[in-house]
Amino acid sequence: MSETVFTYAAPALKFGRGASRELGYDLSTWGARRVLLVTDPGVAAVGHPATVAEGLAKHGLAVTTYDETHVEPTDASLTHAVEFARAEGPFDAVVAVGGGSSIDTAKAVALLVTNPGELMDYINAPVGNARAPEHALLPLVAVPTTTGTGSESTTICVMDVLALKVKTGISHPALRPRLAVVDPDLSATQPPGVTAAAGMDILCHALESYTARWYADFDAKSPEQRVPYCGANPIADLWSERALGLLAGAFRSAVREGGMAPEVAEQMAMAATFAGLGFGNAGVHIPHANAYPIAGRVRDFRPAGYPAGEPIVPHGIAVALTAPEAFRFTYDAAPDRHLRAARLLDPAADGSGPDVLPRTLATLMHDIGLPNGLGEVGYGEADVDDLVAGAVQQQRLLATAPKPVTEDDLAGIIGSSLRHWAD
Ligand SMILES: NC(=O)c1ccc[n+]([C@@H]2O[C@H](COP(=O)([O-])OP(=O)(O)OC[C@H]3O[C@@H](n4cnc5c(N)ncnc54)[C@H](O)[C@@H]3O)[C@@H](O)[C@H]2O)c1
Repeated sequence: MSETVFTYAAPALKFGRGASRELGYDLSTWGARRVLLVTDPGVAAVGHPATVAEGLAKHGLAVTTYDETHVEPTDASLTHAVEFARAEGPFDAVVAVGGGSSIDTAKAVALLVTNPGELMDYINAPVGNARAPEHALLPLVAVPTTTGTGSESTTICVMDVLALKVKTGISHPALRPRLAVVDPDLSATQPPGVTAAAGMDILCHALESYTARWYADFDAKSPEQRVPYCGANPIADLWSERALGLLAGAFRSAVREGGMAPEVAEQMAMAATFAGLGFGNAGVHIPHANAYPIAGRVRDFRPAGYPAGEPIVPHGIAVALTAPEAFRFTYDAAPDRHLRAARLLDPAADGSGPDVLPRTLATLMHDIGLPNGLGEVGYGEADVDDLVAGAVQQQRLLATAPKPVTEDDLAGIIGSSLRHWAD
């Protein structure tokens, strides 16, 4: 029997310039007294965590700051943060000030200071034991400083498991922050390279959730089988469509101007929030599945705007690099949706057929300075099979694609993504 039910969940949300200044009041109304603030060194350097901490202190809250978040967390970096919190606590609440890396680190902390066991117990199977939390997590307030991941709305914590060279996560409804505070003034200081990468993450969240398998095309689930990601549905569609329209207006100027004008920062922040609310309920598919091995097998790519100490293919770039070819592949499953998405992104995208959305996407990627395909981040023909082997493991994501995806299909998509435009 086919599914007849879809679900929608979201955190409480406070949005707007100056919203992060109200955190002290919000937390004091919850009865919190001791707060752990989680951030990373780059965000700490621009001063946002210190400003938030001052606001918390004004309301009588004692703040301990953990500023060692690893950009794109690993199992080791999450464990380090958890050990810090276990040693310095107890705390009444966790506040994450940063991008997806800081928010995901704070999610692991909120889980493991309240529940027994170690990280691996809770990581998704087959890598971990997929244990469900027994106790309520510490309340988490997520204050994003990038316009990208939507992690402030979602139920997942993403990490690299170093020993296995795989990217995976913890996924449970209890991980959703209690409150998301989106203050566009904070994200206005993102380096342009981060704005470009994180913005592609927004774009792919919106496009993948909009083109995901329709919720009613899944087999019917019993209540205990329901998962947060239930496929494209009428409510997620609203958020995804609006996110695409906002990106059409703001994305190019957000990257070009370097320091973002306040109204551009606000549109980008709204796009990220809206896309997070969409994909946080519908799910994502092929570009995100491919992103895991693209990021996980990085060699020596070091993009501007990210810490120079280690090679990294930032999440947003890893997702974007196979997106044009992935949407060429999925076009025939839902042609109208692919064409509508292209026109929301660029009202001048005319014509029809499988090329329209890939062309629109590649033009945007070129304009915002993204690498020209997998070749530019260090991969070649010889790496295709290995990347396919990594992507095919992401069955949870591939199952949300609007049509079945075989290894040969993935090889076609990845192999055609080595270069997207003529220089
Ligand atoms: N949990 C989820 O739902 C979810 C969804 C998508 C991605 N992710 C994960 O999120 C991570 C990526 O997060 P991200 O793209 O937000 O970036 P990030 O948190 O990794 O930060 C990227 C860089 O930007 C800097 N930075 C961030 N905000 C800044 C600001 N306002 N001013 C100056 N510098 C700033 C950081 O110091 C860092 O060097 C990845 O690990 C990815 O897997 C999680």
